[in-house]
Amino acid sequence: MSDVKVPFVDLKQRYHEEKAELLACVERVLESGQFILGADVDELERRVAKFTGAKHCVALNSGTDALMLGLWTAGVGRGDEVITTPITFVATSAAIAHLGAIPVYVDVDEDQNIDVTKIEQKITPRTKAIMPVHWTGRIADMGAILDIAQRHGLKVVEDSAQSMGAYWHGKHGGTFGIAGAISCHPLKNFNAVGDGGLLLTGDDGIAEKVRLYRNHGLARRDYCVEWGINSRLDALHAAVLLMRLDRLLSVIERRRRNVELYRSLVKAPQCRLPQCKQHEINSFVMFISQSDDRDRLQAFLRDRGIESLVYYGTPIHLHPAAAKLGYKRGDFPVAEGQADRVLALPHHQHLTGAQIEYVAQSINQFYGAS
Ligand SMILES: Cc1ncc(COP(=O)(O)O)c(C=O)c1O
Repeated sequence: MSDVKVPFVDLKQRYHEEKAELLACVERVLESGQFILGADVDELERRVAKFTGAKHCVALNSGTDALMLGLWTAGVGRGDEVITTPITFVATSAAIAHLGAIPVYVDVDEDQNIDVTKIEQKITPRTKAIMPVHWTGRIADMGAILDIAQRHGLKVVEDSAQSMGAYWHGKHGGTFGIAGAISCHPLKNFNAVGDGGLLLTGDDGIAEKVRLYRNHGLARRDYCVEWGINSRLDALHAAVLLMRLDRLLSVIERRRRNVELYRSLVKAPQCRLPQCKQHEINSFVMFISQSDDRDRLQAFLRDRGIESLVYYGTPIHLHPAAAKLGYKRGDFPVAEGQADRVLALPHHQHLTGAQIEYVAQSINQFYGAS
């Protein structure tokens, strides 16, 4: 095993690149004495709403809470069914299940997003909502999803955790449905220095309810109108996110250039790289190849000091947590086939062209392509 030559992520490098600004944020927040909610959080909400085109943004302490509160305020509750996909992070299903609702899976398309041609056959009288996942920062086919939702009277709550800076026909991820959830986890491209999340909505009632609920349901210091939770974003995260909002487009652009370099250098047809569609702007939170003989390729890359990650090897319906839902291997053949092939390649904004060339050459060498 050689030393790491190409890291999968490099959060330390991000720190060094932004050190002066980050330390200024820390100092400013510590000096202010305002650590929870407050002016930075308000300003972040205003600026994210403007950036995304959402009427409201409510800052929370994770993308998972944004998913859960989006579903809850959209009216999803015990026994309701929510249609979603098995290709995602576990939080999508967990958010549904925590409300006592039931995740109902639909297989994915080649692009790893929900296959819209298979949604309608899963709709029952108990279906309340559709939760599309914009996997890797590529927006699902929202035209078809909104059409289905409208015809069947369903709510759409988007898992837009990965789509800060992603657009579909010029519209920002998380702004198509009644609510959308963005994650500011450190591995996202709009990242706090810890957990954080944002709920986007065009609905005044939802924004007001989530704002109240995130702060214990307190309308005033000593007046609780509804039992809530603590899902407030810390001021320090808000200050860092405000600083990083100005850099987001450049982060995405650097990642996009890396992706293009991969596309031009990887010659082996056994390693299929996702292509962009004309009507979309991808946020490139992840860059997931589908590679034959994936496990041996990953070991080969590891031996050459290249980190890669299987994102993910187990589709959600095959996790033990989903056992009660009664699915089995074979139910979602496209998702299951992808789970055997997916390999996320390093593509973060701190990579050099030489590092990408090295990864691409290694992939070509593994498959004997020149
Ligand atoms: C698709 C998806 N959904 C939900 C989440 C949950 O977000 P968070 O980690 O901020 O709770 C994430 C990120 O981790 C994600 O990638």
